[in-house]
Amino acid sequence: MNSDKLRQEFFNFFEKKKHKIVPSSSLLPSDPSVLFTTAGMQQFKPYFLGEKSPHGNKAVSSQKCFRTSDIEEVGDERHLTFFEMLGNFSFGGYGKEEAIKLAKDFLDSIKVKIDYVTVFCGNKDIKKDEESANIWEKFGFSEEKGNLKFCGIDDNFWGPTGDEGPCGPTTEIYSQGVEIWNVVFNQYYCEKNKTLRPLPLFGVDTGMGLERLAKVSQDVPTIFETDLFLPIISQITGGDEKARRIIADHVRGAVFLAAEGILPSNVERGYILRRLLRRAIRYGKLSALGGQFLIPLAESVIEIYKGAYPEISAKKDDILTVIKNEEEKFEKTLDRGLKEIQKVPNLTGEVAFRIYETYGFPLELTEEIRKVENREAFFLMQKKHQEISRTGAQSKFGGGGEFSPKLHTATHLLHAALRDILGKHVQQMGSDITSERTRFDFSHQQKMTEDEIKKVEELVNQKIKDDLEVDKREMTHGEALKSGALAFFKEKYPERVTVYSINGFSKEICAGPHVKRTGELGHFKIVKEESSGAGIRRLRAVLE
Ligand code: SER
Repeated sequence: MNSDKLRQEFFNFFEKKKHKIVPSSSLLPSDPSVLFTTAGMQQFKPYFLGEKSPHGNKAVSSQKCFRTSDIEEVGDERHLTFFEMLGNFSFGGYGKEEAIKLAKDFLDSIKVKIDYVTVFCGNKDIKKDEESANIWEKFGFSEEKGNLKFCGIDDNFWGPTGDEGPCGPTTEIYSQGVEIWNVVFNQYYCEKNKTLRPLPLFGVDTGMGLERLAKVSQDVPTIFETDLFLPIISQITGGDEKARRIIADHVRGAVFLAAEGILPSNVERGYILRRLLRRAIRYGKLSALGGQFLIPLAESVIEIYKGAYPEISAKKDDILTVIKNEEEKFEKTLDRGLKEIQKVPNLTGEVAFRIYETYGFPLELTEEIRKVENREAFFLMQKKHQEISRTGAQSKFGGGGEFSPKLHTATHLLHAALRDILGKHVQQMGSDITSERTRFDFSHQQKMTEDEIKKVEELVNQKIKDDLEVDKREMTHGEALKSGALAFFKEKYPERVTVYSINGFSKEICAGPHVKRTGELGHFKIVKEESSGAGIRRLRAVLE
């Protein structure tokens, strides 16, 4: 069955079972603790907690999802950044028996055979899910038969997305060697401090990757041979399989991110879009793809999704322009880097590192062009550089009396308040803090109105009045990003970073220092608002 048909069959099946078809939510979630929508349940989070759902107590959707944590994994047989998740949801509408039966019946209806299922084996806090196992047994699945396995918390417990939220044990369905469907029983709420409390309502949240379902239904070796990928990947002629998969995945992801109005930049979501495009281009070079090649691929992506996601074709021109501009820009940088690689008399690891720093050439790409002598030096330089930037950041912010920790904390509050009042497109583009004032540059198209300035000031002053604790924590850079901490990507981050959070309101990777509580700050006032380049505004603010 082709993918459009599978998606439609899924809707039809659940609509007949009284589920309301709900359109996919945006890839940009309202929850500030996550960068992108990563699961179908996110838009339904409040209804699992008891808020009245405008869709009734049963819903079905096909959700656009993007998982940044998987960027480096792409290239194998199953990882993707962008994917679609089919899901049915219940907020007190049914229990385990019906949830499992619905999943089984749907797969039967499209003739997909289940190889085996997994069920949660329990741990010291949560009991073994015998109930689900008993239900599966009625359908012919059991431990004795070898088609039901009990697994632990890593495999059969899901959630929450972001800092807190619904979560619970799962039962998962496997077909042709891949996990295709995750059926989650949202029985708990996971608090920020990671304790679980039972939810009053029994929630069901299921997620089935459309790409994987298509692979199984179309009986092809991997997701990359399905109709969702073939038209893209078949245009990429050179290179190895891994490169072709990476290019295809990244172009798909880039199209969907650009459709949300994201522009390539060096921070946050814009940085992810830039990273996808530049990574696709680099792999294109490794695959000997000549010239600029992204546009025809992006056009194929749009063609594939124009029926299911009309916003993609509606934004076609914008999407293609964004991709074309970034490709041209990066092409020039790469050309300069290429010349440098060819002409330097002695291409050592040190030189390769400088080229990487200046032109964004990763070592593997440089090595495709010319042999690098003493390549270990590349990694040594990389490590040294990270250490320097760490101590550099400390000494810059550390002393000299030139820098005010109070204004530094105020700057974090300002950043969060701007995102709250103006929208999540606000990203830090630069900042400069002295003992007198903070100066903050951020992405925003229009001049701020007086009313907006007032609202931002009020919000910051409210947070000062609330005397919130400024929490400081060390973690790896990956963990920090996963936890939703904002990062200013112009800096190079060391492996371990410090994350400062202000009580659910602000969370940023930052070298510090900060005050201990917001109550120490005094009164916050914005003294100037002006332009600082195209699409960038600049604020100056003081504490009185
Ligand atoms: N929330 C679960 C997942 O993302 C099921 O939808 O896998």
